Amino acid sequence: MSQIDPTKKRLTRITCAEHVTPFLKAEVQALGYEIQEEDHVAVHIGANLEDCLRLNLHLRTAHHTFWLLSRFRCPSLDALAKQASAFPWEDLIDNDSYFTITSNIEHRSVDNSMYPNLLLKDMIVDRIKAKTGARPDTGPDRSCVVIHLVWKNDRAWIYLNTNGIRLSDRGYRKMPHDAPMRETLAAAVLMAAGYDGTTPFVNPMCGSGTLAIEAALIASGRAPGLLRSDASALHTALDIDDSYIAMRKEARKSKPVTPDPMPIVATDNDPRAIDAAMKNAQTAGVEHLIDFETCDFMDTQVPQLEDDEPGHVILNPEYGLRLGETGDLEQTYREIGDFFKTNCKGYMGHVFTGSRVLSHEIRLKTSARHIFFNAQIECRLLSYELYQGSKKQSKNLNPD
Ligand SMILES: C[S@@+](CC[C@H](N)C(=O)[O-])C[C@H]1O[C@@H](n2cnc3c(N)ncnc32)[C@H](O)[C@@H]1O
Repeated sequence: MSQIDPTKKRLTRITCAEHVTPFLKAEVQALGYEIQEEDHVAVHIGANLEDCLRLNLHLRTAHHTFWLLSRFRCPSLDALAKQASAFPWEDLIDNDSYFTITSNIEHRSVDNSMYPNLLLKDMIVDRIKAKTGARPDTGPDRSCVVIHLVWKNDRAWIYLNTNGIRLSDRGYRKMPHDAPMRETLAAAVLMAAGYDGTTPFVNPMCGSGTLAIEAALIASGRAPGLLRSDASALHTALDIDDSYIAMRKEARKSKPVTPDPMPIVATDNDPRAIDAAMKNAQTAGVEHLIDFETCDFMDTQVPQLEDDEPGHVILNPEYGLRLGETGDLEQTYREIGDFFKTNCKGYMGHVFTGSRVLSHEIRLKTSARHIFFNAQIECRLLSYELYQGSKKQSKNLNPD
């Protein structure tokens, strides 16, 4: 009889990128879970293994869902070895399967995380061999069982990474094109912008189409995890496969957020970007929801709005990381301001950029701003109210 019960609620750490926690928290709560704790890159809830798989299926902004296996005081490598060899690994990992170790370690006795990782791996292998007579394979592949060690100060936590490969790798971006945004960041940016699928969405400078595809997934009510059929937890010895199949079947019944789909427009002046974006949208199964066009962003056809609800226009222009590039982009940012003023009346305009200097060239007053990190670079989503007529402008803010 297994000592690890998949139906038992255990402390579960759901991680995300920096500054994304508020959006992850809202998503987790909307799925009916109570947040126990949160920090700048994670929220904690009580969850069983089925909950974890459901969260992996539905969460748009999460990176990993870690299900706690063991936590203990850990002042030294000896303590880690002792605690690790006491855990019933033979009930979690079959002796003919494969597992890998990942870790996040900040401890005075460790200057290279390779040692605790190797130690934990050896303890797991030795225990399974002693109990069953055979040993599983190990290596760096995260598409099988992934055990995650966190060791901070004198505390250690050993988790099952229930998803394995990062949840942002949805599986649709076969064609990355230039500087693509991580899928989970795109989903968080859409949430920060206030996009919920009920109004038109316009994405000039769409690149590989990430924002438009994530918008289409939101509008069609599609669980982003449906695009991946595998999960690390399914490779364990725990009996979870049937409930996973059932929950995927249930998720496929999800409905669009409006009876008639609202327009989603994606344009780029590079035909290779449009080609990549179309192929990615096809892989994601949402190409029928997006109107693609190759054109300069200024020539993007912005759909007429039918009621008072503002639509959303989001641009993610280049922001010039190398010296000398910023000058070339000043004109582009000025034209974005002009495009907003003349072509996007009634919309909320948003620019996602890593350059404060360039953002001043937009020359409009921001109504909101959110900080994010894109590949270690601090970026901002700057929002502009472009309502027409009588709609009252909100208090103006400076872009930084
Ligand atoms: C930073 S990338 C966008 C990446 C995108 N968010 C993604 O996830 O793939 C900027 C895009 O703007 C496009 N671009 C640059 N100048 C443009 C212009 N004047 N009109 C239209 N597109 C432009 C580039 O071709 C590039 O694909």
